[in-house]
Amino acid sequence: MMSLYEKFNEYFNVGVAVNERTIKSHKEIIVPQFNVLTAENEMKFESVSPSLGVYDFTKADKILDFAKENNKKLRGHTLVWHNQTPDWYFKENGSFVSREEMIKRMDNHMRAISKHVKDACYAWDVVNEAIDDKYGNYLRQSNWTEIIGDDFIEKAFLCARNHFPNAMLYYNDYNESNRDKCEKICKLIKSLKTKDIPIDGIGLQAHWNIFSPTIEEIKKAFFEYSKLGVKLSITELDVSVYEFEDKRTDLIVPTNEMIEKQERFYLGIFEIFKEYSEIIDCVTFWGVSDDVTWLNNFPVKNRKNFPLLFDSNQNTKPIYKKLLEKV
Ligand code: GLA
Repeated sequence: MMSLYEKFNEYFNVGVAVNERTIKSHKEIIVPQFNVLTAENEMKFESVSPSLGVYDFTKADKILDFAKENNKKLRGHTLVWHNQTPDWYFKENGSFVSREEMIKRMDNHMRAISKHVKDACYAWDVVNEAIDDKYGNYLRQSNWTEIIGDDFIEKAFLCARNHFPNAMLYYNDYNESNRDKCEKICKLIKSLKTKDIPIDGIGLQAHWNIFSPTIEEIKKAFFEYSKLGVKLSITELDVSVYEFEDKRTDLIVPTNEMIEKQERFYLGIFEIFKEYSEIIDCVTFWGVSDDVTWLNNFPVKNRKNFPLLFDSNQNTKPIYKKLLEKV
C-alpha cells in the first residue's frame, strides 16, 4: 500500500511535527509516511536563544540534520510569537525596551536564524497566533503590541522577507474555523496584502475534536480563506476524541462511538483538503502517534487521548487504511 505522502502526492504534501526524541523513536513511521517536517519546539525562540544575542542551535540541528539525511522538506516554526518567548527578550533593566529597539531585536533574531538555517526551511510561520479569540477584539494584546504596536505583524513579514527571500511566509493561527476568528484572520490578510506586505500563506493549525468545529464550519472557513489569493497549509492537525469541556480521565481506549465519529471526521476533512488542493501546500499532523501527542497533557495533564492516525503502539489505526482507500 502507498504511504500517506505518496497517496496524496498529487494533491498536497503530508507533514508531521517531530522532536529530538521522536526522530529516533518514531523514525520507522516518519521516514516512509511524511515528506515535510516541522520542529515541535526546537526552533522556537526559547529553544534557540538562551540570552540576548546568544544562540544555541544544538537541538534545532538535530531536526535539520534528520531532515537533510532523509530528504524531507522543513517548515520553520516559528519566528514571532507571544508564547515560548522569554520576558527578558522584551526588556532592559526590568522595563520594556523602545519600539525601535524591539524592531531591531526582531530583526537580529531573524538574522541569527537565517545565518544558521539558511534556506533549509521552504516555508516559515512568521507570526503565530496574533489574533484575539474574544468576540469584539481584534489583535491579541501581548508584549509585541504593547511595545511595537499593531504593526508588529507588518514589520515581522517585511523583516522575514529580507532574511528568508526564498521561503513561503505564513501567518499561523488556531480556532481558524470559528466564524468570528476566521473573519478576523481574513481581515488581517487583506490588510497585509493591501499594504503590499509579503505574505504567501495562512497556516490553519487545525487542533480539532470530533465535536467541534463541524465539517460544515470547516468548509465555510476554507471557502472564505480560498478567496484571499494566498496558499493554505494545515499546520498542526490533530482530532481529539474529547469535547474541550470533557475532562474525563478514566478511558484507556477510545469508545466505539468516539472511533466512529473520528473516522467520519477524518474522512470529511480530507475531502475538504482535496477539494481545495490547488491552494493547499501541505497537511501537517501535530505529532506522529498517540503515544507522543501533546494532547496526552492538554487540557488535562496525564489524560490519554487518541487524536492521530497511528496508535500508542505505533501501529496504523483502521482510519489510516480508510483514508488511503476512500479519499
Ligand atoms: C500551538 C503552537 C505549537 C504548539 C501547539 C501545542 O498551536 O503553534 O507550536 O505549541 O500549540 O503543542
